[in-house]
Amino acid sequence: MTQQVSPQRTLDETSATVPQEPVVLPAARTYGNQSLTAALQLRRSTREYADRPLPLQLLSDLLWAGFGVNRANGDRTAPYWRHVMVLDIYLAMADGVWLYEPATHRLVPHLTGDIRQQPGVQDFVAAAPLELIYVAHGERMTDVSPEERRLYASVDSAFIGENVYLFCASEGLGTVFRGSVDHTKLAHLLMLPDGQFVTFAQTVGYPQHPIML
Ligand SMILES: Cc1cc2nc3c(=O)[nH]c(=O)nc-3n(C[C@H](O)[C@H](O)[C@H](O)COP(=O)(O)O)c2cc1C
Repeated sequence: MTQQVSPQRTLDETSATVPQEPVVLPAARTYGNQSLTAALQLRRSTREYADRPLPLQLLSDLLWAGFGVNRANGDRTAPYWRHVMVLDIYLAMADGVWLYEPATHRLVPHLTGDIRQQPGVQDFVAAAPLELIYVAHGERMTDVSPEERRLYASVDSAFIGENVYLFCASEGLGTVFRGSVDHTKLAHLLMLPDGQFVTFAQTVGYPQHPIML
């Protein structure tokens, strides 16, 4: 399911090329301390972020919580449509764009260049260290209409998004699930092949003001 990335790829807007080697994430810490009810109490959308990077361990934990593998058969922390693996998560960060590969718990380099502010819809996005971009493989959703593809891919994204919300709440991070993205521009920036499309994005980072009960 890893997308093959050609080393010749370039991107006008960001002078992007394929970055370094894949990053093997540290094993996710799968037993947190915060209770689910406390996380639910703290869950909210954040639109003011501190300019502070996320430690790699926290990124690992976040991605596992969002859509990591939680069973020996490769299934995930979020439910997904018809047991067809439709959703990819791209990470736009200061050092480029990466593809999360749940099976190996790695970040696969996709593009260099910082694209966080490129779609330019909400200014706070560029200030936060991480923009998750949910991308659907429409070509894997056979025998359903284009409308249903959008619908089911959106639902898959939303389940992941809520996992991310709850993880962030439990770790003092801020996040906001975002439909206000320029889908066409993002698809172009990510060089998505025909059939794949952006569903939503989700900003993650340390909030400017701590979130407390
Ligand atoms: C489908 C969907 C799309 C959303 N799109 C955006 C968005 O583009 N920008 C934004 O700032 N918030 C967006 N939100 C967050 C909502 O505005 C937010 O969840 C709602 O106002 C309730 O606030 P709360 O999350 O703090 O409880 C979106 C939420 C959902 C579920």
